Amino acid sequence: MSHAIIAARAHAAPREGLRAPPSRARPTSSAPARRIAARATPAHGLPSFERDVMLGLTLRQKAIPSTWLYDHRGSELFERITQLAEYYPSRSETRILERCAVEIAAAAGPRAVVIELGSGASRKTRLLLDALDAPRAYLPIDISEQFLAESVAGLPASYAGLRVLPIAADFTRIESLPELAGLDAEGGRGRRIVFFPGSTIGNFTPDEAVNLLARIGQAVGPEALLIVGADTTHDPAVLIPAYDDREGVTAAFNKNLLVRINRELGADFSPTAFRHEARFNAELQRVEMHLVSEYTQRVTVCGHPFQFAMGESIHTENAYKHSLLKFQHLAARAGWTHRQLWMDGQSQFAVHVLEPAMPAVAREREQNVRFR
Ligand code: TRP
Repeated sequence: MSHAIIAARAHAAPREGLRAPPSRARPTSSAPARRIAARATPAHGLPSFERDVMLGLTLRQKAIPSTWLYDHRGSELFERITQLAEYYPSRSETRILERCAVEIAAAAGPRAVVIELGSGASRKTRLLLDALDAPRAYLPIDISEQFLAESVAGLPASYAGLRVLPIAADFTRIESLPELAGLDAEGGRGRRIVFFPGSTIGNFTPDEAVNLLARIGQAVGPEALLIVGADTTHDPAVLIPAYDDREGVTAAFNKNLLVRINRELGADFSPTAFRHEARFNAELQRVEMHLVSEYTQRVTVCGHPFQFAMGESIHTENAYKHSLLKFQHLAARAGWTHRQLWMDGQSQFAVHVLEPAMPAVAREREQNVRFR
C-alpha cells in the first residue's frame, strides 16, 4: 500500500483546494500499519529526483528542492550539523524541550500517538517520548529510508509498549496516513501529536508552510496537537555561521547534492567547481543556501548540457526565520491556534504547541455527538 500522493512539489506553488479530511470520515480499514512503507521513488509515482533536477536547472535562478539534500549521506552530514558549535537551533530547541516536555506532555495526555515529520535521527523525540504518559505509537516519517531504519532501530527497546511504525516517505507529499486508521481500529489511543521540530517549517515559503500545516491538520483530525520548533533569530552575525560553519560540514552537506546527482543521474558535476554560500535575505527574513559556480562551465546531467556563468548559483535551500507574530499568523491561516509557546532564555528559538482552531460551538457539538 502506498501513500496518497499530492501533485504539488515541495517548492512548487501552493496547492489550492485540499481534499476531504481523510482520517475521521474514512471507514476504519484493517490495513496493517507497515514498517518501512512507501518508498519515495518514482516507482510510487512521486515526481522524481530526475524531473526536479532537470526542471530546476532550466530555471532563471537555478534551484533544486531541498528535500533531495537528504539521502543517506546527507542525513548523516545533517546530523553532524546539529552537533556543531555554530548551529545553535538544535541546542536551543533541545534545552526548551528538556525544560518544557512535562508540560507539553500534560497537554498531550495519556496514550498519545506521535507522528514526526522529517524525523532524521529521532534525537529530540526521545525528550518528548520520555515525558509522555504511556505513549501508544510513534510514526517517524523520513525521506531517507535507510537512515530512518537505522534511527528507529535503537528506539523500541527503550520504550516498552510503544508501537514504532516508520514511514519512508516525503512528508511534504503525504496526504493521509493509513497507519492512523489501523491504530484507531485497535482502540484505546489518546491524542495524536504531530511533532515537527528542527525549524524545518522554515524551509518552506510562508504559503507552502500554510499549505503543509493545513494538510497535516486534515490528516490528523480535530483533536490533534501540533508541536513546531521554529528559529526566531534575525541577527546575520549569528545566522550566517550557523549555515556556513568553519569546519565545512554544511558546505559538504550542500555539495553532497552534486555528488548525489552525479551518482543517481549520471552527471559530471565537479563538487570543487562550486562553493557553498549562505546568504541572509533581509527583505524575506530568510537564510538562503546556494552552490555557486567558481567559473564558467558546462555540466552534463542525463545527457543534457547545462551552462553555468561564473558566480551563477543553484539555490538549494531557504531557512525562513519567523517572528512569533508571523508564525502565529501563519499557523492561524492553516487553522491552528496556540495552546502553549515556549522560548529559550536568549529568545533565539520557539517551540509552538498548537491545537486546531475549531470554533467553540463546533467543538461542543462534536463532543456531544461523541459522548451521547
Ligand atoms: N531545518 C534546518 C534549518 O533550517 C535545515 C538546515 C540546517 C540546512 N542547516 C542547513 C539546510 C544547511 C541546508 C543547508 O536550520
